[in-house]
Amino acid sequence: MPSEIVKYFIIIGSKISENKDFLTELDREIGDSDHGINMARGFKAVTEKLDPEITDIGAALKKAGMTLLSTVGGASGPLYGTAFMEAGKVLMGKTSLTPADVESAFAAAIAGIQKRGKAVRGEKTMLDAIIPASEAFSRKVSEGSDLAGALEGACESAREGVEYTKTIIATKGRASYLGERSIGHQDPGATSATLMLEAVLEALKGA
Ligand SMILES: Nc1ncnc2c1ncn2[C@@H]1O[C@H](COP(=O)(O)OP(=O)(O)O)[C@@H](O)[C@H]1O
Ligand SMILES: [Mg+2]
Repeated sequence: MPSEIVKYFIIIGSKISENKDFLTELDREIGDSDHGINMARGFKAVTEKLDPEITDIGAALKKAGMTLLSTVGGASGPLYGTAFMEAGKVLMGKTSLTPADVESAFAAAIAGIQKRGKAVRGEKTMLDAIIPASEAFSRKVSEGSDLAGALEGACESAREGVEYTKTIIATKGRASYLGERSIGHQDPGATSATLMLEAVLEALKGA
């Protein structure tokens, strides 16, 4: 039996794999048609490389981040890799998470993505899903939601963030080469980030 944290990664991996063609199609429209392929390869490697019995959530995230960094490639590999590694650092030694732990993990992941990719909100990237998700999570927690309720809010805001990416011009990454022609298309990275959050929520509800 895989540990709880490994089960979460398996569910994230299945979600990414189910949406591989969709993500690649989105990246075909404003990039180079590899996002789904890259992400599916990365998460397959994560589920293969994680010790099935690992219970330290921080150590598992760090290992997953290192694996994503070395297998996903493109712009998103180093960015997601850094996000998971930085989140892993703040969760090191933990075998269960409080809402406050998740808030710290979100903050560390976002800081890592921004340090590496130099993007801010509104540039049509994964950050346009992840930052609103993190804000919604904290808002829900402050209103008294439990982990699942806060994550539900995070997913909703991430989906709104994806919709928002359709309305703006890409100014970072490959899609920025298209300038105004990037308008009308949703960002592949914002979409994959949202799918991951939805997978975590599904896993949490199933647990
Ligand atoms: N500087 C950046 N900061 C944050 N996210 C970025 C940045 N550049 C690109 N991205 C994200 O990476 C996604 C593209 O990933 P991918 O297709 O795997 O890489 P590549 O563009 O190198 O082919 C974009 O949809 C966007 O969300
Ligand atoms: Mg690409």
